[in-house]
Amino acid sequence: MSALSIFAPAKLNLFLAITGRRADGFHDLVSVVATVDVGDTLRVTGAADGKFALSCDDAAVPADGTNLVLKAARAFVGATGWTGGASFGLEKRIPMGAGLGGGSSDAVAALRGLNALAGGPLGPGRLAEVAATLGSDCPLFLHGGPVVMRGRGERVEALPAGAAARLRGRRVLIFKPGFGIATPWAYGQMAAGAPGSYVPAAEAERRLAAWVERAEAPAEELLFNGMEGVAFAKFVALPTLLEQLRARFGVAARMSGSGSACFALLAEDAPGAAIREAIRAAWGASAFVTEARLA
Ligand code: C5P
Repeated sequence: MSALSIFAPAKLNLFLAITGRRADGFHDLVSVVATVDVGDTLRVTGAADGKFALSCDDAAVPADGTNLVLKAARAFVGATGWTGGASFGLEKRIPMGAGLGGGSSDAVAALRGLNALAGGPLGPGRLAEVAATLGSDCPLFLHGGPVVMRGRGERVEALPAGAAARLRGRRVLIFKPGFGIATPWAYGQMAAGAPGSYVPAAEAERRLAAWVERAEAPAEELLFNGMEGVAFAKFVALPTLLEQLRARFGVAARMSGSGSACFALLAEDAPGAAIREAIRAAWGASAFVTEARLA
């Protein structure tokens, strides 16, 4: 049986403005997202029995029908009528509840893998539509490199080349405390009226355009996350550490997505080991810490 190995990268929201709540309960946003060179690996092996099965090297990851990989398989069959099956082997490196898009990226890897096994029945447009039904963060993983994401996440376009060049290859440290944050909780807090969380759409676009147009503006000046207010109010370990890192090392540091993972942009000569040590000192051994590069 043919087998494929697909890299499912993590993502970072470098700029994330939530612009308001929609009639369908989701939120509209404007976000600049970059994938990184750290992620999960999904092995997809064709199965003659027409069934789908998932195994994962991390026992904490649900391997039943609630896993987005198997939801993606069902969506693929629904969209194509494909009668084949597959077994998936997931090597999990992206922590869950992190705002790093791990589950969404795995789902897109599954869609890509099945589409390849089935001989490519879904073109890029249809693939993006199916991806959007699986999660707001899924479509962005069909693109390579930094993108701008709008709507609830389904409208994705490449960042203009000059702006993308200011992000690509940048060194980042990604770190997450032992606890996660559930995305629906974070959006729920915003919808419940946490003051000052929404950024009007025109204001978000103006800020993004100002950074894109200022050719000399480094990635550091783009960083913004409008979900930090609700997350930081409850999880004080996040702002406490980010403040420390800014003060001690002069790095730009933010939360990604709805958290709880955060990241710091590092200069090439920044003392990575000392910054890691400071993170471990604050958040302990259960923290996830990894260095990466923006793709
Ligand atoms: O799309 P996804 O399944 O990742 O979203 C999880 C939850 O996060 C949604 O049920 C919704 O409550 C919230 N959400 C939102 N607006 C978005 C994305 C997610 O309100 N753009």
